Formats: sequence, C-alpha cells, structure tokens
Amino acid sequence: MPGLIPENILEDILNRIDIVEVISGCLPLKRAGRNFKACCPFHHEKTPSFMVSPERQIYHCFGCGESGNAFRFLMRHERMEFPEAVEALARKAGVVLPQIKAQDHKGENLITQFYKINELAASFYAANLNSAAAVNAKNYLLKRGIKEESVKLFRLGLAAHGWDTLMAHLRAKNVPLSLIEKAGLVLSKQGGGFYDWFRNRIIFPVVDIKSRVVGFGARVLDETQPKYINSPETPIYTKGRNLYGLNFSKESIRENDFAVIVEGYLDFIVPYQEGLKNIVASLGTALTPEQARILKRYTRNVVMVYDADNAGQLAMLRSLDIFIEEEMEVKIVSLSLGFDPDSFVRKYGIGPFREKIAKAQGLFDYKLAIMKSRHNPKEAQGKARISQEMLGTINKFKDAVLRSEYIRQLAQELDIREDALLEEAKKVRKFPGYAGANLRPNAKKELNINPAEKLLIALMLRESELIHYIRERLDPADFMDEKISKIVSLCFNFAEEGKDLSTKSLLNYFGDEGLSQIVCESVFLPDELSQQNKEKLIEDCLCRIKEEKIKLTRQRLHEEIKRAQDSKDEQRLERLTEEFNSLLKKR
Ligand code: CTP
Ligand code: MN
Repeated sequence: MPGLIPENILEDILNRIDIVEVISGCLPLKRAGRNFKACCPFHHEKTPSFMVSPERQIYHCFGCGESGNAFRFLMRHERMEFPEAVEALARKAGVVLPQIKAQDHKGENLITQFYKINELAASFYAANLNSAAAVNAKNYLLKRGIKEESVKLFRLGLAAHGWDTLMAHLRAKNVPLSLIEKAGLVLSKQGGGFYDWFRNRIIFPVVDIKSRVVGFGARVLDETQPKYINSPETPIYTKGRNLYGLNFSKESIRENDFAVIVEGYLDFIVPYQEGLKNIVASLGTALTPEQARILKRYTRNVVMVYDADNAGQLAMLRSLDIFIEEEMEVKIVSLSLGFDPDSFVRKYGIGPFREKIAKAQGLFDYKLAIMKSRHNPKEAQGKARISQEMLGTINKFKDAVLRSEYIRQLAQELDIREDALLEEAKKVRKFPGYAGANLRPNAKKELNINPAEKLLIALMLRESELIHYIRERLDPADFMDEKISKIVSLCFNFAEEGKDLSTKSLLNYFGDEGLSQIVCESVFLPDELSQQNKEKLIEDCLCRIKEEKIKLTRQRLHEEIKRAQDSKDEQRLERLTEEFNSLLKKR
C-alpha cells in the first residue's frame, strides 16, 4: 500500500506520534497493565476487548479482529483514505511530506474530486444568494427568521431558475460532466445532454464532521411539492451516516454531555442561532445505528424533539430503541400539535424550548403513555397489546437489572402479574426482528491456524534478532497457513535487505487480507510467554511446524502413490516411493 509515500517517511511519522494519543482523541482509553483498553468502536460490545499497545503502537480487537497501526485507525474510524490518514498524522508529527501530486489531476483520487466539486458548487450557490437576483430568496430567509450570521455559518445558498447555471459554472472550471453527474448535481436528459438537479431552491449544504461538503438539501420558496429534494447517495454521501450540524455542535455536545436531536434543517438552524449549540438534525430519516454510534463518541445522552403531528409516531418511537441497544439514554420531548422546533422557538423563544428539553421524558415512560392512550389498559386485550410493544423496547436493554426493573414497573402500571410478563419477554426475545436480530456487521473471521505457527510469529515480531535464527531453520513455505507464510516471507525479505522493520511499520505493507489481524493479535499474547524458557519454546515451535509439514507431505505422497499404483505408472511410483522413504528417514 505505501507506493506513493516513501516507507521511511511513513515510519518516521509513526515514530513521532503516539497511537494512544491518536485513539484517545476518539474514544476513552483505560489503562490495563502495559496496554490500554476500550469498548471496540468497530463493533458493538459491552466488555472491552479493544486493546492498544503503546510499546508496539498498534491496536487490536479480540472481538471483531479489527487491527492495525495509527494510519489504519484513522482510515477505519474517520473514514479517511490512506493518503489522507498519512497527511493528518504527518501534520501532527511535524513531518513534511514530499510533494507528489502538484498539478497532476490523474493522481488525485475520485473521493477528493467529489469533495472538490461539492465545494465549488457550495461556493457557487452561496454567491448566488448574494446577487441582486436573490431578493426573493433573501426575503424568504428573513421571513423564516434566519439571521445573516447563520446564512454565512451554514453556507446557505440559492440555486437559480435556469436549467444549467451550475453546470455552466463547473464546466467553465474544466470539471468533467461525468463527474458532475456522479456527484448528483446534474441529471441526464432523455434526448441527450444534462440539466441542473437543483433549481429555484434554497440550498443547505450537508457538511461532514470535518466540514467537507458531502451533499445538498434544497427547499422550495413556496408550497410547491416536493418541499425538499436532496443529493443522491454518492461515494462520499450515505444517508444515515451523517448528522446535520454535528461539525458545529460536537464540542457543545461533549461539554453539555447530551445532544438534542431534531428532524429538519431549520429545526437545527433556528435553535442553534438562538444559542442552543448542542443540537443535530437527522434530516427526516429514521435514526440509524451508525448515527447513534457517531453521537456516542461525544455523549451517551440524547433528547429527541419531534413534532406531535408526526404521522409515523410509533415508527419513530421504535427507531429510538437503537439508542437503548447502544446503551445510551434517550429522552423525548413532544411539542404541541402543529409545532416543530423551528416554529416553537420562533414563537416562544429559546428559554421555553430549553425548559421543554429539561423536562424531557424517558423513553419507557413516554412510550407507555402513548400506548396507554392508544389501547385501553383496563381491558385484557389492551394490556396484551401494550405489553407486547413495551417488551419490544425493554428487551433491547443489555443490562438484565434494567430489564427486570422495567418489567416490574410495567407489571405494576398494567396491574398484571410479573411472571406473565417475563414469560412473554422470553417469546419476544426469540421473535425475529426484535431483540434477536442483533446484527453483527463485524463478526470476527475465525482464523484456523496451527498455534505453533502463531506463536513463532509472535516471538519473531517481539525480537527481530530471532528472524535471522528462524530464517536459517525454516522456509516461508514450511508454514502451512498461507497468511502466516506471507508474513514470514516479508519479514525474511526485510531481514535480507538488512532492514529492521517495527511491527507498526510492517503493517503498512498489508492490505485487507487479514494479515494485520494475525500480527496485531500476537502482540497482545500473554506476557508469561516471554518469561518462559524461550529457547525451548522456539525449539518446540520449530519442531512442531516441521512435523506438521512432514505429516502433510506424507499424506500427499501417500495419496499420489495410490494413484500411481492405480494407473500403473511404474516410473512415477518409483520416484514417489523414494521420496516417501527419504521423508521417513528425516524423522
Ligand atoms: N425532508 C426531505 N424531503 C422531503 C421532506 C422532508 O428530505 N420531501 C427532510 C428535510 O431534511 C427536512 C426534514 O425532512 O428538513 C423534516 O421535514 P419536515 O418536518 O416536513 O420539514 P421542515 O424541516 O419542518 O421544513 P420547513 O420548516 O422548511 O417547512
Ligand atoms: Mn418546519
């Protein structure tokens, strides 16, 4: 993977930064002996199996197998490309990178180009809003109570009436049409040609956590339908991965230790400009586990504010179960009919809005109240329906104490026996789509490797002098596991060239083929290993690897001999038998 950036520079960067510092900027690390540990940010877990080694400058999760050095961490956690991660850490380390690309557009990757196009488009739309032709748009924003400072801060813009104003602007800057189309800014016409996707609308750039423009939302200035249109999904924009405004609100969310979640652009902008800074918008979509996890980096507490006339009330409530699964605390504010955060704040001011938030109800109480208003809690049928819906939520709690406490409360509220609820809870847990459907996107790929091979690799990585010793006794091909064999041959190559590569730098040579998992896992093998009689341990490993190899070769020869006998291939039979005998002597 290095290629463009010289290996010695990568190593230099890794030597100057501290992976513990890099990672603890993203998640809380706890000391554990000579290492640090945390709950893995790459899969869901309750007890920490994510380890960071300050000595080796690598991380490894024993739960999902995700592992690597500081570059890899930024790539996975911050969704950076390799060159971006290198750039970020180089800056931190004060290492100057050789200028590789200069004016060369081919060298630039597609992702960077998408950001660039969006940036050009955002500036174009913003400039439109400042032009003389933008009177209507200006008036509209004024009417909506959007202050000039917010227009600037959130880079609001205007897409003009014409069919190709943006296209012409980007073409004049030599942006290829195919890219403009891929970025979702133009659509192709049936008879050929293209036209602007956003026309005659207020533009809301959607910006990621690093303030890069990833897409756009656009609102009409009147009652025309559809009210909003948005960018399509692109390589840099996936719906349900972003939270609108988080780049502005993350510090405040951390300080206040809670986040207010609203639905729309204006529901975000209006409270924010009035001083409520710990707020994000979900942009009308149901909340996704990814959004919950993103928020969890800053706080475990969320307050969801939504309009009561929301048609999908129950669907929205169910989507909040995600927070329970992420072991976050979720509270709910429902505004009176006809109000959303934007109109509420404009009418009553930010003070009363804050009061509403302070009085937010916990999910359990809130949902129970809604269910009781929908079904009669005095009748058997009603009790059953309410129980079913509530148990769906209760079962999402990972903590058995919380589960049993809520079941006790529910039994009391509905005046039913607790053991009946417990029995139903068991059924609900098995019901697919409810608690049982606990998706694990990062399920660990089990590696079925001879322990001796693993151990030897671990020892080799701990003490590079060992590489020379082992190189004289084993061949990379002696290792039965293909991955181990690759790692070993890489180590041997470096040893031959007189290079002494550290574990963290070795990882720069691996792609996604699971090699780093083996290397990183071995770093965290128990310390007793190094105290044991090392020479004997190494000899044992060598011995067992050789034996395994002989065993397998013998099996192979055995089968080939049988086949040669069947086909009466005398010459081949003789050669194979000889090979077999010499193998026996070796033992
Ligand atoms: N939304 C969308 N497409 C639509 C309607 C809504 O993408 N056709 C998204 C927008 O992000 C919008 C959010 O859902 O901000 C909430 O929708 P809604 O409550 O209908 O709109 P408001 O934000 O209240 O819009 P406004 O106040 O501008 O009327
Ligand atoms: Mn609104």
